[in-house]
Amino acid sequence: MNVKNNVNLKPFHTFGVDIPCDFLIEAYEVDDIIQAFQNKDWVDIPKLILGKGSNVFFTQPYHGVVIVNRLQGKSLVEKDGYYHLHISGGEDWPSLVEWSLAQGVNGLENLALIPGCAGSAPIQNIGAYGVEFKDICEYVDYLDLDSFQIKRLSAKECEFSYRDSIFKQALRNKVVITAVGIVLNKSWKPNLSYGPLQAESDLLTTPKSVFDLVCEIRRSKLPDPALIGNAGSFFKNPIISHAAYEKLKSAHPDVNGYETEDGVKMAAGWLIDRCGLKGHQVGDAQVHPQQALVIVNTGSASAKDVLDLAWFIKQTVLSKYNINLEHEVRFFTATEESQLDDIINSSH
Ligand code: FAD
Ligand code: EPU
Repeated sequence: MNVKNNVNLKPFHTFGVDIPCDFLIEAYEVDDIIQAFQNKDWVDIPKLILGKGSNVFFTQPYHGVVIVNRLQGKSLVEKDGYYHLHISGGEDWPSLVEWSLAQGVNGLENLALIPGCAGSAPIQNIGAYGVEFKDICEYVDYLDLDSFQIKRLSAKECEFSYRDSIFKQALRNKVVITAVGIVLNKSWKPNLSYGPLQAESDLLTTPKSVFDLVCEIRRSKLPDPALIGNAGSFFKNPIISHAAYEKLKSAHPDVNGYETEDGVKMAAGWLIDRCGLKGHQVGDAQVHPQQALVIVNTGSASAKDVLDLAWFIKQTVLSKYNINLEHEVRFFTATEESQLDDIINSSH
């Protein structure tokens, strides 16, 4: 196990903010993870697993051990009309999507270009363009941090919902995901449930054509973290009651809403945009001028710039629409995960 001390996390997360951590290891084997958790010198210090760092935001220097998931390996089996993929947790998700298409294994194309590791995909049940991880998941394997045994959950046991799963709830901080099982039907049908894909349905007759269009839409809307720091959608799309939605719709006929089991899912980007916040800036943190749901680091944003901007967005939307935005991005303080409200309230 190769331990590095006092490491700048800038290359290990996509926001591109300069933040040090006390210790960092890159785990190429499950045993590296076990050793980090069993290291007697580290018993009392916090530990954080990172994939590609594309859904995290560090609010302070991290006084603990960052363990970067580098577990590699892919296998593919055909059985009873399905492809079954077993993918190690550290595999790069966008590369996996391209690899599977190149094998003629189709069904991941709507999830193209989502940054991150395969092992992170179940955590917030990644989703885009009408497909979520739950739709293609067969199982998730994890290292249980009590017993240090590898265990398996079926897709159903993962309790997936919109940007949520058991890994953000009952199993948070208790497991490290080591591999995912994906199941794909051999007889491919395009999933064109997302509006802009539906509009092009005549042209979307092959998996590659869906893949290409999804990539094109994403590139036109979402900033590339290699060019400008960001963590994708900063806030989740809020789910509001039917009554609240009808009231909003009568005042703003152009509002978008999608029926869900729990109410109507609203576009947070629309709310932030209609508050006039596109391009709004605090220091070097900015509401992306093309996509209001994304906060970007225009240069040397400090953690405080991002926190202050996120709080300003949240308060502005709350006072104008009476809707409380929750952040999708996971916040980490010096020692633990935290929430925007708690951080702001504790600073006053
Ligand atoms: P990280 O950011 O490294 O980690 C995320 C969280 O999971 C952290 O709390 C971390 O501690 C924990 N974690 C990581 N790995 C493990 C593990 N093996 N075991 C246990 N816990 C672990 N998301 C979508 O759903 N849809 C999108 O369309 C989308 N688009 C995006 C576009 C951009 C430009 C960016 C920057 C992000 C986007 N995201 C999107 C968010 C992000 O891609 C996903 O959340 C992704 O799954 C994060 O993977 P990661 O490896 O970077 O996780
Ligand atoms: N909109 C605006 N102004 C904006 C941004 C969006 O009016 O500045 C409107 C759009 O016109 C559209 C609606 O909001 O009518 C929804 O926008 P879009 O289709 O771009 O999707 P989104 O709600 O902003 C969600 C996910 C993305 C995912 C896309 C595509 C969340 C929080 N975000 O974004 O996921 O890629 O749909 O499915 O659910 C992520 O989670 O990091 C992420 C990027």
